[in-house]
Formats: sequence, C-alpha cells, structure tokens
Amino acid sequence: SDGPLVDTFGRVHRDLRVSLTDRCSLRCTYCMPEQGNEWLAKTSILTLDEIERIARIAAAAGITTFRLTGGEPLLRTDLVEVVRRLARLESPDGPVQIAMTTNGITLREKLPALVAAGLTRLNISLDTLRPERFRDLTRRDRLADVLDGIAAASESGLSPLKLNTVAMRDVNEDELVDLVEFAVAHNAQLRFIEQMPLDAGHTWSRERMVTREEILDRLAARWRLTPVPGRGGAPAETWVLDDGPHRVGVIASVTAPFCGACDRLRLTADGQLRNCLFSTTEFDLLPILRTSYDDPGEMDRELDAMMRGCILRKLPGHAIDDPSFLQPRRGMNAIGG
Ligand code: GTP
Ligand code: 5AD
Ligand code: SF4
Repeated sequence: SDGPLVDTFGRVHRDLRVSLTDRCSLRCTYCMPEQGNEWLAKTSILTLDEIERIARIAAAAGITTFRLTGGEPLLRTDLVEVVRRLARLESPDGPVQIAMTTNGITLREKLPALVAAGLTRLNISLDTLRPERFRDLTRRDRLADVLDGIAAASESGLSPLKLNTVAMRDVNEDELVDLVEFAVAHNAQLRFIEQMPLDAGHTWSRERMVTREEILDRLAARWRLTPVPGRGGAPAETWVLDDGPHRVGVIASVTAPFCGACDRLRLTADGQLRNCLFSTTEFDLLPILRTSYDDPGEMDRELDAMMRGCILRKLPGHAIDDPSFLQPRRGMNAIGG
C-alpha cells in the first residue's frame, strides 16, 4: 500500500532505528552480562544489501531519519558502506538523515570516512568521567578511548553533538554537574536518561531509579534552567543553562514518557521489526528477504506490508507501571536502545 506509516493512534513514523550488530566493545553492567550474551547467529545478521533494501522501502514510506545503533555500530566492518547506501536514499520529503548512537571507541579513525559517506549526526554514550568508575561500569578500561572519540566528534563539527548519560544511583548521581561541564566544554548537548527496566540483571526498581525531578534539582544548584519549548517528537526535554547558549536535556522515559509522540520503528540486526523498545512481539523480515521471488517487486511489497502490519499493532505506550509488565526477552544490546 501507500502513504506514510501511521498507526491506529495517528502517530506518523519518521524514524527507523537500525541495529547493525548485537556485539559491543564494552560490557556495561546494565546492558550485558560479563561474558556477553549468546550472540545472534552470524547467518541471521542482515547483509548490507538486505539493510539497504529495507531502508529503501522505509524511506519510500516516509522514514526521514535512519539511526544506526548496536550493540556498538562501529564494530560493523561494512559500516561506511552502510552509511553510503542509506545516505543516498530519498523520502517523499527529501533526502534522509543518517545519525548514529555509539560509545565512541575508535571513532576518531573512522569518522572522516563516515562523514564523507554521508553521516549527519552523532550521539555518544558517556556515563562517567572517572576512569575507575568507567572500568567498574563497563568492565573495560577504555575511558580514554571514549573521550578521544568525543573530542574527535566535537572537532568534526557534526552538529548538534549529543552525549547520553544514564543517571544511576550510587554510580554517577554525584557527577551530573561535572558531566554537563564536560559537555559544554566540547560544545555538546548532554542528555540525562532515566534508566528503564531493560537492564541485563533485571534489577531495575522504580524506587531506586534517579528521576527527572532529582536530576533537575541537582542541576538547578549550579545553573538557572530555562525550559526550551517545542519538543515535538523528541524524547528529550531541554533547558538552556543560565543565559545560554548551552543546553542540557532529560529523557524521562519512565516518569514523563513521550510515547504519545513516538515516531520510531526499530530493526534488529537479525531482521526483526519492533514497534517499541518494550514490544514483546517482533515481525520477522528474514523469511521474506531470503525467499527468491520471480518478481523482485513482489519482495518489496511483502516487506512494505510487514512494516505496515508492525506499525498497526503498536500499543499506545509502554506499560512499565502495569502490574503485569514484562521486560522484553531481547537484551538492550540486541534492541539498539
Ligand atoms: P535524537 O534524535 O538525537 O533525539 O536521538 P535519540 O535520543 O532518539 O537516540 P539515542 O540513541 O541517543 O537514545 C537516547 C536515549 O533515548 C536512550 O536511552 C534510548 O534508549 C532512549 N530512547 C530512544 N528511543 C526511545 C523510544 O522509542 N522509547 C523510549 N522509551 N526511549 C527511547
Ligand atoms: N535505560 C535507559 N537507557 C539505556 N541505555 C542502555 N540501557 C538503558 C536503560 N536500561 C542507553 C545507553 C545509550 C543509549 C542508546 O541507551 O546508555 O546511551
Ligand atoms: Fe555496549 Fe551500549 Fe550496552 Fe554499553 S550500553 S554494553 S556501549 S551496547
């Protein structure tokens, strides 16, 4: 069929988050067990051609932003080619944007080729500025590599550069102001994220979570915060620091969810469409992609129909507060954040 990807609640989908691998160069305790997860089977990982094909159909249906995620997308050896293929797609509203969410490790050496291939925006994860904390949290001693990646991103001029910090009790709650100072010095916008019940250990509890309110209290002790209106479909609320121009954001997925304005669809590295971070059903594109059709147009129509079917099954929002809430089986590293 035709037209934009609209769900039964009228939400138009413009953003496809593409997970390129479930592997990662870090082992954040909240994301993966020490030994890593059981990795997705190599044969089930989407190829460059398969990703391009799905993206082309998504763009034709009105997707204007592709966000590359993982695991860690920089581990994908054909990443530059993925960016190049997706960047040349056109949606009915014009050329597409290619954004990436990364931990920043090895970014400096890879960034020039990525920008040349058409990468338009970067979000980098940074939960702490202290080397020992970083090592405890990620089980790898690589803070210096992350900071070097952030410096390279800052120098590249890709804008706006965003840093993501999951605010965590007894982990980094005392560092929030330092992290914002660091972001300001790198001309980046830092966003604090309320931790969601998607952690590897299933230890999340609402009582322990650092809330938007607590984050704002800590920041207000250092800066005068002026809210920026016009959030649109963006997950973050933003505030100007003092007289500007720098800003800070909060993604309050738990205490102030943005599900009502959600415009996201997700594709996992093994070819499953998900209509929500928290969805418990997935829509498998692999059987379609790996069938030989006499008419290639037939494959495209099947993929388009699956995408629309997935969107039509989207619920109004996550149900974290329901007593019957269940964490999705798939780990965060295989969903793509
Ligand atoms: P921007 O376009 O730059 O705003 O990107 P983004 O914030 O959507 O992407 P990013 O990958 O940087 O995600 C930042 C945080 O937002 C992560 O913790 C994500 O898990 C969370 N997030 C992203 N998309 C969704 C979503 O659809 N629902 C919820 N609840 N959280 C999301
Ligand atoms: N809740 C919120 N954000 C999370 N991320 C990983 N796990 C969670 C969680 N349980 C973040 C990462 C990264 C982004 C893509 O998702 O730290 O910044
Ligand atoms: Fe890797 Fe991101 Fe998970 Fe950390 S949160 S282990 S960087 S996928």
